[in-house]
Amino acid sequence: MIEPSAFRAAMRHVPTAVTVVTSLRDGEPRGITLSAFVGVSADPPLVAICVNREARSYLYIASSRIFCVNVLSHDQRELGERFSGKVRERQFDALDVEAAVTGGPVLRGALAYFDCEVEGEHHAGSHSIFVGRVLACASHAGSPLGYFDGTFRDFGIDAE
Ligand SMILES: Cc1cc2nc3c(=O)[nH]c(=O)nc-3n(C[C@H](O)[C@H](O)[C@H](O)COP(=O)(O)O)c2cc1C
Repeated sequence: MIEPSAFRAAMRHVPTAVTVVTSLRDGEPRGITLSAFVGVSADPPLVAICVNREARSYLYIASSRIFCVNVLSHDQRELGERFSGKVRERQFDALDVEAAVTGGPVLRGALAYFDCEVEGEHHAGSHSIFVGRVLACASHAGSPLGYFDGTFRDFGIDAE
C-alpha cells in the first residue's frame, strides 16, 4: 500500500500535454483543464479522458454525453489557468470559440481538437474514464503547452 502523497509526487514527474475539455448541456458551455487524455484507437476513432466525479464538468459530460478535447498551444497558458478553477462562472466570456459538430466549443488557436460523443463511462476510484467516439477532429502546426512538476511549461518542440 502506498501513500497518496507518494503517488502524487511520482505523477509530478510525468510530463503531459494540457487540454481544455469542453461540453455543452442545455445550451450552457462548460470547460475543464485536463491532462488525462489519450488516443485509444484509430479505427474506430476512440479517445479516453479521466474526469474527477466531483468536478462540475463531470455532470455536463455525463448528462450531455458529448465532449470536445482542445489541445492547448504553448501561448494558451491563460486558458489552462482559466479552466482549472480560476474562472468559475461565465468561463467562456470574451473567448474566441466556434461550435464543433456536437455543439461543444472549439477554442480558436488550439493545436488540435477531438469532438466526441460518449461511448462508455467506467468508474475508476474518484474519477470516471470516458471513452469518446471522435466525430470530428483537426490539427495545425505549432508548439504545445506542457505540464511538468506542477507547472505549465513550453517544451520547446514543434509539430508541422
Ligand atoms: C495541468 C492540469 C491538469 C489537470 N488534469 C485533470 C484531469 O486530468 N482530470 C481532472 O478531473 N481534473 C484535472 N485537473 C483539475 C481541474 O482542472 C480542476 O479541478 C477544475 O477546477 C475542475 O473544475 P470544475 O469543477 O469547474 O469542473 C487538472 C488541472 C491542471 C492545472
